[in-house]
Amino acid sequence: MANIIVLGSGAFGIALALVCNNAGHNVTIWSKFPEELDEIRNTGESSKLKGVKIPPAITLTSDKNDITGKDIVIVGIPSSFVRSVMQEVSPFISENTVIVNTSKGLENLTFKRMSEVISEECPNRAVVVLTGPSHAEELSIGVPTTVAVTSKSIESAEYIQDIFTTDTLRLYVNADIIGCELGGAMKNVIALACGISDGLGFGDNTKAALMTRGIHEITSLGLEMGAELDTFSGLTGIGDLIVTCTSAHSRNRRAGILIGQGVSPEEAVKKVGTVEGYYCCEVTHGLAQKMGVEMPITDELYHLLFEGGKAVASLGKLMGRPNRHECEHYTTLEQLQKLDKLHHE
Ligand SMILES: NC(=O)c1ccc[n+]([C@@H]2O[C@H](COP(=O)([O-])OP(=O)(O)OC[C@H]3O[C@@H](n4cnc5c(N)ncnc54)[C@H](O)[C@@H]3O)[C@@H](O)[C@H]2O)c1
Repeated sequence: MANIIVLGSGAFGIALALVCNNAGHNVTIWSKFPEELDEIRNTGESSKLKGVKIPPAITLTSDKNDITGKDIVIVGIPSSFVRSVMQEVSPFISENTVIVNTSKGLENLTFKRMSEVISEECPNRAVVVLTGPSHAEELSIGVPTTVAVTSKSIESAEYIQDIFTTDTLRLYVNADIIGCELGGAMKNVIALACGISDGLGFGDNTKAALMTRGIHEITSLGLEMGAELDTFSGLTGIGDLIVTCTSAHSRNRRAGILIGQGVSPEEAVKKVGTVEGYYCCEVTHGLAQKMGVEMPITDELYHLLFEGGKAVASLGKLMGRPNRHECEHYTTLEQLQKLDKLHHE
């Protein structure tokens, strides 16, 4: 039995707390916001994950001292707040504790992945990333789910794989931490675009186009950043993209639908709550420019979200791009060598 503490009493933190509790581990949820914990104490559930009972066996605390001495610390905080929260709790995390990040995003301005941010704030601790197609609403009620775990320390990833595996949650280890984290972060950008398409009243063809060309541009940037090609056709690439772009649970897609229906981006984000694709679009746009990678969907979305662009015009611009071949973006020498090697293996 492992002693586990979850940072954040939001939808995904609670879902993982339930998984670990059901697997027989000793689970605590820590929140900076005592009112979130009071709601759980008073009603047995959270408005962040409506209708899901949270058993009293799960301990609730706002005391940072309770973080000390745990085997595993799970980070369930939205990406924009990960650095500040980890800075605050770092002195309370014991040296041999394994930190499991579930937050999906890239840090603004630094372009850092969440595992890099956490490692900077909590040096000398193993950081494992758990990511993949896993809506809290389904994970929490035992809907069969698969995710990937990745880390610079494969031993730590395998440890988390063993601890978190249940009858309904299956974990695969993937050694490509860059690809897994980039896929998890950037699929939210494409999900926003798919939501906008749905909100405008376009159909399945359009959504399939955005998803397919979306994973294409995510892959292009990922390869430039040192990720492995295979990762983008796996759980954390196309897998997470499918679930986020098609599900009613996806807040990124829901915000997109509102924007497509004419609500301003700022208003849509305010209405829906945690919409990480909004922030990630800005970061990805900057990163793509820095790396010299063409990302037409991300660029158009950026224009729409931050430069007053109009949804119909953006779609028109995407459709009106010069004709080209489907796979012509793998252009750098290194990428060509990688592909050549793959073809000959
Ligand atoms: N919801 C999902 O299905 C899901 C699935 C996979 C991964 N994730 C990832 O999990 C992370 C959390 O998402 P969520 O859906 O649980 O969000 P949420 O909005 O439901 O909850 C986030 C929680 O984080 C905590 N928090 C927020 N701001 C904070 C701050 N400034 N300081 C300290 N704590 C703060 C609060 O306890 C809050 O309830 C995100 O990065 C998301 O990408 C979510």
